[in-house]
Amino acid sequence: MAPAPINASTTLDASEKVKALLSRLHANSLAQEEELNKPGGKLAELKALKKQSDASGDTTSLADAQRQFDDLMRDKMIALEEDKALFVYHLCRTLSATRVVEAGTSFGLSTIYLALAVGQNASRLDPEQKRTAKVIATENEPGKIALARQHWKEAGEEVEPWIELREGDLRQTLASDLPSEIDFVLFDIWTPMVLPTLRVLEPSLKKGAVIVADNVTSSADGYREFYEYVEANRSAYRTLVLPYAGGLEFTVYNP
Ligand SMILES: C[S@@+](CC[C@H](N)C(=O)[O-])C[C@H]1O[C@@H](n2cnc3c(N)ncnc32)[C@H](O)[C@@H]1O
Repeated sequence: MAPAPINASTTLDASEKVKALLSRLHANSLAQEEELNKPGGKLAELKALKKQSDASGDTTSLADAQRQFDDLMRDKMIALEEDKALFVYHLCRTLSATRVVEAGTSFGLSTIYLALAVGQNASRLDPEQKRTAKVIATENEPGKIALARQHWKEAGEEVEPWIELREGDLRQTLASDLPSEIDFVLFDIWTPMVLPTLRVLEPSLKKGAVIVADNVTSSADGYREFYEYVEANRSAYRTLVLPYAGGLEFTVYNP
């Protein structure tokens, strides 16, 4: 008889309250995405428009398509799927990561997984080291910021104390006051932000830091600059794509 599949969420070390919150947020995000990705919907129309403007080099219509995209996404979670979030949680636990940066926070769902891992890893540290343990979260949409804070408050002590949210464009908010040795970075953000953000973080990455980036296969065009950079810096970056939906990039920084 085939063994029963493991319910991955039972491997998450969290209270029932936090697990219920996570389930609710995942369900909301999936429902929104189903609606968003309907064939012939607004997102499909905008993707086609962006591609067309890109190909023709028409910067005015490209900027217009980007504006419409930003408007459409303003109230959308676009959260990391549960299986990827659990992987990221266990990875951070395994790495004993306590200095974590999240590029792209939205309603704060993936941040909850990162904060659980950081809080649990920090419980082994002395008080001085514990003080520096945190997830630096980043978001520039005021509505999403308010909801993220609400969700972390609802999650409570296991989660909220381990998060520092930087509000605004992360290319600026991450430009100063970073931990001297970042253990882990999650890229779950619009692709044009990935390489500029990596360049901002690079001087503060620990040797052996792990970087995870979402949807590298489904958004391969958007990740082109990132790949070119990694390719040009092969001696520092080792990278492979994990077969999660859309492709999840696993990168080790080892200069
Ligand atoms: C894919 S969503 C993040 C989802 C989140 N990681 C989760 O799993 O719940 C990407 C987020 O990045 C934010 N974002 C896009 N460009 C940004 C920028 N320049 N600075 C800060 N946040 C940005 C968007 O508003 C959006 O909420």
